[in-house]
Order: sequence, then C-alpha cells, then structure tokens
Amino acid sequence: MLTIADNEFLTQTGAATPMGELFRRFWLPALLASQVQERDGVPVEFQLLGERLVAFRDTAGQVGILEARCPHRHANLKWGRNEECGLRCVYHGWKFTTDGQCVDQPAEPANSRFKDSVRVRSYATHEAGGLIWIYMGPLELQPSFPEFEWTLLPTPHYMATKRFQFCNYLQNLEGEVDTAHVNFLHRNLAEPDDPDIPREILNPQFDGEGLMPPSFLARKKFDIAETEFGMVAMACSEFPDGQLYWRMTPYLVPCFTLIPSQYNDANTWTAVVPVDDHNCVGFTVTWHHQRPLNEHEILTVTSGAGVHALVDPDTFVPLANKGNDYLIDRELQATSSFTGIFGIRGEDLPVQEDQDGTIFQRHEEHLGVTDRAIVALREILMRLARNLQDGISPPQLQSPAAFRSRSVAIVSPREVDPFQLFLDGQPESQREQGIHSAP
Ligand code: FES
Ligand SMILES: [Fe+2]
Repeated sequence: MLTIADNEFLTQTGAATPMGELFRRFWLPALLASQVQERDGVPVEFQLLGERLVAFRDTAGQVGILEARCPHRHANLKWGRNEECGLRCVYHGWKFTTDGQCVDQPAEPANSRFKDSVRVRSYATHEAGGLIWIYMGPLELQPSFPEFEWTLLPTPHYMATKRFQFCNYLQNLEGEVDTAHVNFLHRNLAEPDDPDIPREILNPQFDGEGLMPPSFLARKKFDIAETEFGMVAMACSEFPDGQLYWRMTPYLVPCFTLIPSQYNDANTWTAVVPVDDHNCVGFTVTWHHQRPLNEHEILTVTSGAGVHALVDPDTFVPLANKGNDYLIDRELQATSSFTGIFGIRGEDLPVQEDQDGTIFQRHEEHLGVTDRAIVALREILMRLARNLQDGISPPQLQSPAAFRSRSVAIVSPREVDPFQLFLDGQPESQREQGIHSAP
C-alpha cells in the first residue's frame, strides 16, 4: 500500500514531474515505423508524456518529431505540408526541418534573418526494430540506444504491434510483472473458434481440471533479483513431483518487460508509454533470435489470441474495448473461460482499464505475498526518480548492452539456483559479460 502522495509521484508523468523527468531520460518507443513510412508523407499527430507532438519523414528519409504547435501563432503542425525536406505550417507558411529549425517565412521581408532565430521544439529520434523511438530529455545527456535484442535482427525475425490503453501507464506495467494473475485471468479452456489457431495459444494452462487452476500452479513463490537493467521477477510453482516451474519476467527500466511462455519458442517484449496520466500506449514485439518468425508465431501476433491486441488499423484502439464491454461472452464464461473474453491482451484490458477507473488508488489496496514483484517495481521507479531529483542519473543508462535480455520459462529440479537458470536463458553475449545481480 502506498500513500496518496507516493501514488501521485508514481503516476504523474507530465513535464517537470519527478516521474516525467525519469521517463524523459530514456529512449522510448513513440510510433510504429509503418506510421511514417513514406517520405514527404502525411504528418502524424500523437501525444506522449502529456506533450502534443507531430512526426514526419522528410524527403531524405529522416524522421522528425516536433512539438505540434507552430511557434508563430500556435496552429497545429499536423495540418502541415510535408515537402522538400521540411514541414510547412499551413497557416502562414513557416517551414521547419526535422531538427526544429525554421528555414522559411515566406511573408517576411526577403532579406529578413528572423527565421534564423526561430525554432520549434524538436526531439531526437531513432528508428530500430520496426519502431520510431524518441528521446525527450536534455540533449547533452542523450544516452546510447538500449540494445534490445530484436532491434539488432533482420526484419523477418520480429513483428511489432501497437495499441492504445485507456488507463494510467502503471496499471498496465504492474500487470506485466504480475505473474500471479496468469493462472486466473488467462485461464481459458475454450476451444478456438478458428481451427487455424492452435489450441495451446488459447489454452496455455489447459490441464483438463476445470476452471480454477490446481493449487500447485496457483500458489506461487516469488524471488526478485535486481539487475543492471532493472529486475527479474522469478515466480515459481511446485509440481506434485517436486519439480519447479519458473516464469522469469525481466523488467527493464523504466517501462519495458519481457513476457515468458513455456509454450512459445519466440520471445515477447512489451513497452508501456504514458500518453497522459489517464492513457497510455502499449507496444508489443515478438521475435526469434535465430530465424524468421514461423507461421505459428505470426499467428500469435495476428490472431489477437495472445498478448498482441486486435486493433482498429487507423486508430490503434482495441476492437474489444470498454465501449462494447470487451465483447464479453457470459455463456463462455459460465462454461469454459475464466473471463469470457477473447485473447490474453483482451483479458488484461478490462481489469487494467478500470482499477478505480484510470488511476488506481493504491492507498486503499491490500497486497498479498504474490504481489512482491509489483512492490519491487514501484520501489525501483520511486528510487530512480528520487535519485534523479538529487542529481543522480539512472545507472541503467550506462548499460545499453544489458537490455539485450530474454524472458525464461523452465521446469527445473528444486536444487538449481534460480538466478543461474535465468542467466542460462540469456543470449551468449550476456552470459559472457554477465548480467549482474545488483547489490
Ligand atoms: S501559425 Fe504557423 S505559420 Fe503562422
Ligand atoms: Fe495478463
């Protein structure tokens, strides 16, 4: 349980808030690269961390992200003309390059140098792994790009999707490290409607024992290891034969997680970025480090059965949403599905989008032993933001290679050290250099 003040500290991410400052020190995903695919194409308006922004790809292929309001008289640059290496405001024709410099003011005197002193706020961008990334912190402190594994792979090895989620970012982020809910919320025994969707995608926990999970699966023990990139939440179920089933979920600061699945050879990465304090945008990437994604893995992305939501392709709003009660099927819920809602992400949305509405009142919650990872996540975020207030930068910014991490889902004998199991599941480069457990 947090105080009201701590909850505000954690959930507010606008400019000049402590958590907002922390987020601004990291590279964050802003858009799918496909949204600004075309040179001189249509500018895209969006919002992150409470700021209204416009992205465009210029004639040379460079992506720029600018503050949406024109510095002249604040018309929205999203209406602008993207032409000849710049975005031209349609109100009076001022034109800006991707780095925010004003290069043309067609109504000012021909010999005027006024434009040289005018800039629109611009942010550094980076294109990698099917995403456009943004850095919104002080220019002189721009960190190296974090080496997420799939961003170093050829395109056929990964797929990235985006969805809007209508709640504070922390409700989504806490859900990603909350392994305890998997055996309940995502316990779905329904036969797939579409025979092309493999049964194990819909029924990851299927054991034929009814709707409640057996207690050996549900009663997990948790270990937390802090690492160079953040922490690993290690959740363990004990099988009746004494073997242990570990689900290890790395949390990479400030807003990234890697979701384990013993049924899926590919890895899954998630990011949750605040749009404002009541909305967030989720990016999900599935990748395989050795080969292109196979048909089965592509289906986990495109079917909506897994952690990639089915969305409206223009708005990125999930097709099953609050407005249609997430298409809940009460008949299905009574007979064969814990929720009656389709898809893993589909099931996450209704619970995360309404925890007291869009901002969870954490001062009134009741945490149990299975909430250890959530407590640890909050502690890390608060510590980093408080340190930053004292002038101490997040140490994770110094370890871009540590972000090249994977989740682990594995059955092991009881006597094996769990952190060693986690290390064994990491890319070779990580094992050689070592991902260190923080003191
Ligand atoms: S408001 Fe943009 S050019 Fe005047
Ligand atoms: Fe979930």
